[in-house]
Amino acid sequence: MNNRKIIAPSILTADFSNLSQQIRSIEMGNADWIHCDIMDGSFVPNLTFGPVVVKAVRKMTELPIDVHLMVVNAYSLIEDFVKAGANNLTVHQEAVIHLDRTIGKIHELGATAGVALNPSTPVNSLTEILQNVDLVLIMSVNPGFGGQKFIPNSLKKIRELSELRYKLSAKFLIEVDGGIDMNNIKEISDAGCDAFVIGNSIFAKDNLTAAIVEFKNVFS
Ligand code: DX5
Ligand code: ZN
Repeated sequence: MNNRKIIAPSILTADFSNLSQQIRSIEMGNADWIHCDIMDGSFVPNLTFGPVVVKAVRKMTELPIDVHLMVVNAYSLIEDFVKAGANNLTVHQEAVIHLDRTIGKIHELGATAGVALNPSTPVNSLTEILQNVDLVLIMSVNPGFGGQKFIPNSLKKIRELSELRYKLSAKFLIEVDGGIDMNNIKEISDAGCDAFVIGNSIFAKDNLTAAIVEFKNVFS
């Protein structure tokens, strides 16, 4: 496990009328990944975009594309997102009936595989799959919207997951998603987070590059 800290801006709250410029600004701030929130209006009460936008983002940047599938039928969509250029695909434990098969399919297609937990889903529900996944995403808001408040109980879940990783000598990254800002990022990191999904705290700012540099400086 290296201690590298990853900043993954979520484009959910980006200005889509100016997406390529926004992605350029993200790159200038040295962001590590681009986080794409895929919502189907069924698993979560919001509808965003599909592979066609990921394909467009792929043409705009070399950065790894981290796709977060908040959908009821992730298994049937995996191939399209990998073909569109996704590097990581994260599915929700609560939405996928055959999680082991789904993780295997993502790996077969050449992407890394993550599993996400909603705020009320316990960490130990993943014990049997933790050796197979590359990433575990702790949702620190109820999925569906950007700009929400960080749920404090998430810190306990991050610590628990970090201890479980150590106990199992597993290799997955811990990613946290929702309500991260300059006031809580340090304690989220101290709890064991490796990758930080940040939306509103970046895209609500006039200068995206400066916003990212500020977050990166927390760890330099
Ligand atoms: C919420 C999404 C998050 C969200 C993060 O369902 O999964 O990625 O966009 O945005 P902020 O940082 O605004 O909470
Ligand atoms: Zn997300």
